[in-house]
Amino acid sequence: MSEPPRRSRLSNVWLRQHDIDVARASGSWLHAVDGTTFLDFTSGIAVTSTGHCHPHVVASIQRQAERLLHGQVNCCRNSDLERLAERIAAHTPPRVDTFFFANSGAEITEAAVKLAKHATGRPGVVTFAGGFHGRTHLTMAMTSTRSSHRHGYAPLPSSVFVAPFPAGGSAAEVHAALVGFDDLMSSQCTADDIAAVVVEPVLGEGGYRKAPIEFLAGVRERCTRHGVVFVIDEVQTGFGRTGSMFAIDGTGIEPDAICMAKGIASGLPLAALAYRSDLDTHWRPGSHGGTFGGNPVSVAAALATLDILEAPGFLDGVRARGGRLLAALAAVSAQHPAIVDVRGHGLMTATEFADAAYASTVQDGCREAGLLLLTAGPTGETLRWAPPLTVTDDEIDMAVERFTTALGQLHDPQPHMNIDTHHMESYR
Ligand SMILES: Cc1ncc(COP(=O)(O)O)c(C=O)c1O
Repeated sequence: MSEPPRRSRLSNVWLRQHDIDVARASGSWLHAVDGTTFLDFTSGIAVTSTGHCHPHVVASIQRQAERLLHGQVNCCRNSDLERLAERIAAHTPPRVDTFFFANSGAEITEAAVKLAKHATGRPGVVTFAGGFHGRTHLTMAMTSTRSSHRHGYAPLPSSVFVAPFPAGGSAAEVHAALVGFDDLMSSQCTADDIAAVVVEPVLGEGGYRKAPIEFLAGVRERCTRHGVVFVIDEVQTGFGRTGSMFAIDGTGIEPDAICMAKGIASGLPLAALAYRSDLDTHWRPGSHGGTFGGNPVSVAAALATLDILEAPGFLDGVRARGGRLLAALAAVSAQHPAIVDVRGHGLMTATEFADAAYASTVQDGCREAGLLLLTAGPTGETLRWAPPLTVTDDEIDMAVERFTTALGQLHDPQPHMNIDTHHMESYR
């Protein structure tokens, strides 16, 4: 008699979009133990931006691992941590020049709010509809991508308010969202209640939708007027993902603080909060901290990651490859009415379908064809393409071919959907 399959001791709670038993990984590729290979256009949710196991990053990690694995910041000075802050500061607005380090995106978003609370003496936070900021209780309260992230976890922290996000980029939508923000500030809270406003420059889990610059400028102006700390959450967009070091680069928007994580260290856990040094005087020593924040091995990985991202022409290449992917997907969408929208910002690219079930079937078909994609959007109706920033033109072409193969094996649903011509702008 055959033995019953052994029950896994791993938690049931992880949602498994794919379940690849990885033997090794390199660049854009995952090699499974059964010999199958996959083009990994998930990058571990936009983390392994320099590709899997980039030799320069691995060598830096190895060198550091032989010197010191953990030197807790309360006890050990790490000159590399100072160096990392210095190097990131070269890319942040001039006044955003002071750094706190932690391990994850949620943790660093919490840190931003804690800093803002001390800096302003106020309790509240405003976030935006469709935003994702993490899985801790505070960041769950700040998250409004899907109710499943919050369901059953009440009570969540109070004094978190959700303002409208402009779904499209039109002037009318921006105006309506800013009016909504003003309404919120007069109907549900007052400026005296709000410590921080936190916004993603491109909604990540919310479906790769860009916040129009005029919208960010309007929110910036309101934060200044109300004495609120304006925080940009660049956890997913930062470190080259959108084709510039940070998504707000070149927009003229100056936040008071920036949250960073994910791509910062090519796969090792690290997060950074960059903020205005004048806010630092309010953050008393010992009022925040953490055991692992600024771990030396993660810092070594981050320094090596920056070497790669800062190489001349690297970010130009990201923009060029992002354009190539977007154009190829636009061409596919012209043949497949099931794709209702294609949009992209650097290598943060989305193909949106009419519903989640169809997107999920396409995702499964892509995996069968050897391409890994993740879902996003309010109902999971969008497939997100977040390849390593080191992806090659050939790999992009191969990925689009696999996507086309997967689509070809499905029957197009009746087109009760519209091509969203607004987002067509991003093809140009
Ligand atoms: C914009 C944004 N903020 C915060 C987070 C939370 O990051 P983490 O999962 O590292 O806690 C995420 C994760 O997807 C994110 O995309």
